[in-house]
Amino acid sequence: MNDSLSTLVLGIETSCDDTSVALVCSDGRVRALKKWTKDEDHRPFGGIIPERASRNHLKTLIPLIHEILEESNLTGKDLKGIAVTSRPGLHGSLIVGVVSAQTMAAIFEIPVLGVNHLEGHILSPWLVDEGDDVRKEADLYPQISLIVSGGHTQLVYIEKFGSYKILGKTKDDAVGEAIDKFSNVIGLGFPGGPKVDKAAKFGKDDAYPLPRPMMKEKNYDFSFSGLKAAGFRLVEKLKLEGDLSDNQVNDLSASYLKAAVDVLIFKLEKSLNEFKPKVFTIVGGVSANSLLRNRAQELSKKLKIPFAVADMKYCTDNGAMIALSGAKRLERGFEVEENFKTHARSLPGDFI
Ligand code: KG4
Ligand code: ZN
Repeated sequence: MNDSLSTLVLGIETSCDDTSVALVCSDGRVRALKKWTKDEDHRPFGGIIPERASRNHLKTLIPLIHEILEESNLTGKDLKGIAVTSRPGLHGSLIVGVVSAQTMAAIFEIPVLGVNHLEGHILSPWLVDEGDDVRKEADLYPQISLIVSGGHTQLVYIEKFGSYKILGKTKDDAVGEAIDKFSNVIGLGFPGGPKVDKAAKFGKDDAYPLPRPMMKEKNYDFSFSGLKAAGFRLVEKLKLEGDLSDNQVNDLSASYLKAAVDVLIFKLEKSLNEFKPKVFTIVGGVSANSLLRNRAQELSKKLKIPFAVADMKYCTDNGAMIALSGAKRLERGFEVEENFKTHARSLPGDFI
């Protein structure tokens, strides 16, 4: 095994509905990634059913671990350690990952770490495929990261690896949640983000007036429940005149996304002007959104601050980002807690 492969960590992600495992080096190179998602299981309910999600992890996780090691010609003995999401997430889902990781680590006598899912997302832009250039640590900090997922919306200042100061966060719904619920009412269904993204490309973003909450407040917090409620009321009114046409669905998608993205970019720009970081990132499932990615690129040009976003396959939940978090923690000698537990929320020391 060459030198950098000696930092190889197996990452396990089962915090929500996606089951994913990956083998990643501490410099961010992804040796292998496997992901298993079954949207059909949740689609009839318009959202994720926790019980179904944990049953699916139970069925798929062990075969995925087996496959990834076998295809890479490795065994547990070749690993520097195992990293598993232990927080935040759905308890039943987290437990499947944590128990499997702890058992495997005991058998192969290697370290196992419980990592924060959000630290994984924060690191996701630095994941590269084998053969691509890795990013130098010196170019990455201080950094501002906008986390936008189904469960979280927060703006974080990162002085160095492992030090996360929350500048602001949502007071109610996460932006991903607000998009997913809107997708249901306009009839696009689950999973909402990618569907609304696609429909918006064919629509007019000024077709319907929608609010941009918290733009006038002098802080970095967000709120998306007002936008969601206004979106619902608008759709209800339109439906009184009959079923929504395809054009209406496209216009509604474009107008709604524009409102959400306007707020995200406004707060992000404000924080970049105040903190002047070396680089900024947008991470989490909603960072797959094309409008948000484009607007962030424009902002980067305007402010002359480099912007990084993960490759599409690393935007939504995946084992590679969890492996990278564990690999970096092991490399730096961060404390490895034995017999760690699962937590629905982040721990007090995870963010300041
Ligand atoms: O990070 P993630 O996979 O899971 C959580 O940790 O929550 O994020 C999932 C969220 C969902 O709300 C999904 O609709 C959203 O990411 N999403 C998108 C897009 N792709 C996924 N939202 C907007 N546009 C997309 N293309
Ligand atoms: Zn996530």
